[in-house]
Amino acid sequence: MIRMKNKGEIWILAIESSCDETAAAVVKDGREVLSNIISSQIELHKLYGGVVPEIASRKHIEKINQVVEEALHAAEASFDDIDAIAVTYGPGLVGALLVGVAFAKSLSFGLGIPLIGIHHIEGHISANYIENKELEPPFLCLVVSGGHTHLVCVQDYGRYEIIGRTRDDAAGEAFDKVARAIGLGYPGGPKIEALAKEGNMEAIPFPRAKVNDGQYDFSFSGLKSAVLNYINGCKMKGESLCEADIAASFQKAVVDVLVGHAMEAAEEFKMKKCAIAGGVASNSAFRSAMQKACEDRGIAFYHPSPILCTDNAAMIGAAGYYEFIAGTRHSWDLNAVPNLKLGERI
Ligand code: KG4
Ligand code: ZN
Repeated sequence: MIRMKNKGEIWILAIESSCDETAAAVVKDGREVLSNIISSQIELHKLYGGVVPEIASRKHIEKINQVVEEALHAAEASFDDIDAIAVTYGPGLVGALLVGVAFAKSLSFGLGIPLIGIHHIEGHISANYIENKELEPPFLCLVVSGGHTHLVCVQDYGRYEIIGRTRDDAAGEAFDKVARAIGLGYPGGPKIEALAKEGNMEAIPFPRAKVNDGQYDFSFSGLKSAVLNYINGCKMKGESLCEADIAASFQKAVVDVLVGHAMEAAEEFKMKKCAIAGGVASNSAFRSAMQKACEDRGIAFYHPSPILCTDNAAMIGAAGYYEFIAGTRHSWDLNAVPNLKLGERI
């Protein structure tokens, strides 16, 4: 039987530590965010040009207590108000995940309330429920982050069919690598987006990769190599580089492929709703291209606010709620699973 402490409402304390954000949130009934605290380590990792796993784990340990306390405080809640603990247990960096999982297990044990392990991608997808109260499955969701590029049919809450994925680099990873090549630093996505606004997106015809044996699969490593070759070619010829044109043309190539695949899939699977999620979903060129493509086809388009696109715990709380009411419970042997597959239960 589901026990509720808040007059028929379910309050979930959610924890996310899969990469370089230590985050905690209190979410009511899956859709209302009572607090959403994010402690980002970006400044630390910037020094190294990317996330250093060992540093990430250590920072999570230092921060997690404070972040959880702040989440409760901001929600004007105490541990007594919480009905269940939801935590990301994969995929991600194993040492980073372990900090959140161990913390969540100890809270759940100490408070005597259920523990729910959440797949990080299920969290990203569920971020869409928070600001789109009317959104319900089935819908198509394009998850584009630093670690993943997945085209997913969300058949129901907790039921996912992956119809396309990247064969090599994730879209966000390509943004980060190209940003490094043109000297913008980490994280590359927002920097490429800003620079692209000053450039001509038709200036350089970078390739739009098609994967022969997987209609909806993606490949971004060829595009990344094409950008690097273009840069090297210019340098060898002594030609000056226009970084803004490179950024704009690269971004356009990524956006064209993402939008193209999503629209083909929406048509084939007769989806009337399409959502986006993950860090790259905060990119305004991508958002407006999706918006237009969906409008042209009479498809309803959904996206989270930028703060709910990049890693956060509110999305884990939203996913946690639907898993909670579906009866998902984990026990004390819950472990971090760095390569957890979407839909897999461990
Ligand atoms: O979802 P997220 O915070 O973490 C993962 O689960 O990977 O995504 C981070 C990724 C990074 O690769 C970052 O460069 C990219 O999202 N990103 C963006 C933008 N903001 C973040 N990419 C393009 N445009 C943006 N505005
Ligand atoms: Zn993420």
